[in-house]
Amino acid sequence: MVSGAELNIQPDSQALATAAADFIAEQVRANPDLSILVATGNTPMPTYAELARRVRAGELEMNRVVAVQLDEYLGVAEDDPRSLWSWMLRSFVEPLGIRRTVKLEDPRTFEAAIAALGGLDLAILGLGPNGHLGFNEPPSPADAPTRVLELTPESLASNAAYWGELPVPRQAITAGMDIILAARKTLLLVSGAHKRAVLRSALEDGPTPDLPASLLRRTPLTVVADEAAWV
Ligand code: GLP
Repeated sequence: MVSGAELNIQPDSQALATAAADFIAEQVRANPDLSILVATGNTPMPTYAELARRVRAGELEMNRVVAVQLDEYLGVAEDDPRSLWSWMLRSFVEPLGIRRTVKLEDPRTFEAAIAALGGLDLAILGLGPNGHLGFNEPPSPADAPTRVLELTPESLASNAAYWGELPVPRQAITAGMDIILAARKTLLLVSGAHKRAVLRSALEDGPTPDLPASLLRRTPLTVVADEAAWV
């Protein structure tokens, strides 16, 4: 336990994926209708692939789960290679046979959809290099709502790695800190030495809006990280 968080350190990113898939599978078995906020980004991809392997092998069923989009660039169409919605469909929704989704387009419709679900059961999150969650850039207080915002230079730089030659859109929409922090469980996935300093800070400094991930320590938080991100 570090500052209220359950910390699970694994030797490498594949072991991280297995441990994170175990955690998610356990939640789905306890409640097959689980509503999940789904991060894209590089970190959770091996976890989603491991879940897909278990679904294909008949070891796990996720078809009653509701997948809720965490964030999106503004003005990017579904068929644009940079669409985070399409990334979520490709990596999570389709391989897991999920039939119910909530798309993040308009803050009010999104909030109403989550209220209709009775809130989120699980938030699967990655850690931004500046401590952002989704696109809740610092500073983002605990009550920051679902909204459109300008991306910081750090996020533009880290997101550039996803899209090769294509420019990163400068504006985005993100599920609010209010929605993320209200999730009944939170799973934060952190991989790689480049995340070490920000992970330490998120677990030990604040909690402060200047490091949105540090606010997770007020929630039922499980962190699964690899040794590169922790030791
Ligand atoms: C991105 C996304 C987040 C993601 C985070 C970490 O900017 N907006 O949703 O979780 O940063 O990404 P990665 O896992 O690729 O390091």
